Amino acid sequence: MSTTKTKVLGLCKKWSSCLKSDLLSGAVSKNSQIRTVTSSSSTSAGGNAGILAAEFYIPHRYVSQAELEKFDKVSSGKYTVGLGQSQMAFVDDREDINSIALTAVDRLLKRYNLDPKSIGRLDVGTESLVDKSKSTKTTLMQLFAPSGNRDIEGATVMNACYGGTASLLNSVAWVNSPEAHGRYAIYVACDIAVYEPGPARPTGGVGAVACLVGPDAPLALVPGARHSHSVDVYDFYKPKMSSEYPAVDGKLSQSCYVTAVDDCYAGTISKLEKIRATQIKSVEEAFDHVAFHSPYNKLVQQSFKRMLFNDARRLVSRGEALPDALAALAPFASLPASQTLANKDLDKLLSSIGGDLYKRMVGPSETISKNIGNSYTGALHMNLMSLLGDAHAGGAHLEGKSIGAFSYGSGAIATMMAFKARNPSKKSTLFSLSTIAKTLSVASRLKERVEASPEEFTNALILREAFYGKIGATPAGSIDNVPAGAFFLKEVTKEGGRVYAQK
Ligand code: ACO
Repeated sequence: MSTTKTKVLGLCKKWSSCLKSDLLSGAVSKNSQIRTVTSSSSTSAGGNAGILAAEFYIPHRYVSQAELEKFDKVSSGKYTVGLGQSQMAFVDDREDINSIALTAVDRLLKRYNLDPKSIGRLDVGTESLVDKSKSTKTTLMQLFAPSGNRDIEGATVMNACYGGTASLLNSVAWVNSPEAHGRYAIYVACDIAVYEPGPARPTGGVGAVACLVGPDAPLALVPGARHSHSVDVYDFYKPKMSSEYPAVDGKLSQSCYVTAVDDCYAGTISKLEKIRATQIKSVEEAFDHVAFHSPYNKLVQQSFKRMLFNDARRLVSRGEALPDALAALAPFASLPASQTLANKDLDKLLSSIGGDLYKRMVGPSETISKNIGNSYTGALHMNLMSLLGDAHAGGAHLEGKSIGAFSYGSGAIATMMAFKARNPSKKSTLFSLSTIAKTLSVASRLKERVEASPEEFTNALILREAFYGKIGATPAGSIDNVPAGAFFLKEVTKEGGRVYAQK
């Protein structure tokens, strides 16, 4: 087996001036050192492919869900307890999917001193399309133009909230292929989730995640452990080309999501049992942490409890006794699956069990999404950012931990994956769990934002409605609401081209 060596430059000179102010102290090397990445020229990248480095973008403004309850004149607690959400991020017409993706990828490249020439693949997942042909992926190529690197595969993938996960899986497959030649992939998971006024509106949100993918990763995807569930259903879709708003059957989308959890969890458990050559009795034996796609936090809580219910069903089907913690589920555990969906008695019982386990296993991954809302295809990946950046569970604490990740995109396709958190075998590498945690600095980034009133939130969405599909136009939203260093939309030319600038 022959081996190729590829030199990856730490940082080109042009970039170094803009980097100084942007580097997080101690998070990454400030030297323009030459590092050497060695990869096999055959189909293997050396194993443990996954997330090497991670960045995210969240907007400057958010609206409080408690204030929104008052504004919408719904009962107190409906959004904060009923949906489990605290805050919702939003943008007006000054920012679009391309600008937020540009900001996330720009941060990733700069904060990790990555040479743009070291990237050979770029996949973007989004459903917030602004053009029916020109992709966000190709818009992002403006970040690579100064380096002269045009040899970057990948495109934009669209399937509701699943495109980001498809992009991750594409990136990992490419890194493990002979096409990589020792280069890295980047995947981006991003969306701007907006709903027309009504019960779905408080389940909006905005965010973009950009991750570097390569071998010997701190967050490695476990090969052979994932399980998917894909069906043809109209639970959430966007049939109106003239509107940004989706058509949504809320109740159907909830039951499709939960059915996908059942199916994916059962499949993943049986694959993990084969890999580990042992029976798995509980979610705790399967994983140390679980992160979910999070349309709103209550559905995440319900889905984790559903996994406990699946544990009870599996034990009963194997003729094993239920542990004390699950004993109350016995009357439901042998019912046909269809009778356990939308079963109010079971839902009530599940809401009363497993609270501490939820806090320990899922709590560290829920911080960002509870405070920005649903970033659609970004949501699961944002939740992984929360976990990686969590002060108590993230960073070095994660070493050796197993992480389950559930992704759901309406229409529908869902996948449950398993990750292994590890420190890379190369001690010299910049890419470690600690570096990721420091770079993400989740808590301080959430604090840096400003609260806006429900009126400002509503006005921002009115601006977006008025601007949607416009050509030969300049956005009306103030650049004051764009954080320093972020990209924003300057204009849409009369031909329909979109022009961006960086604040
Ligand atoms: N205090 C506490 N809880 C309350 C209160 C209150 N004052 N009022 C209502 N609730 C609870 C309800 O009991 C319900 O709880 P449950 O889920 O345990 O049954 C919950 O709040 C939601 O209230 P509902 O009246 O059932 O539903 P609503 O009409 O508000 O719609 C929905 C909620 C369907 C999630 C809506 O916001 C929606 O359609 N969102 C978009 C679709 C979506 O997110 N789907 C999920 C998967 S697909 C995706 O990611 C896009």
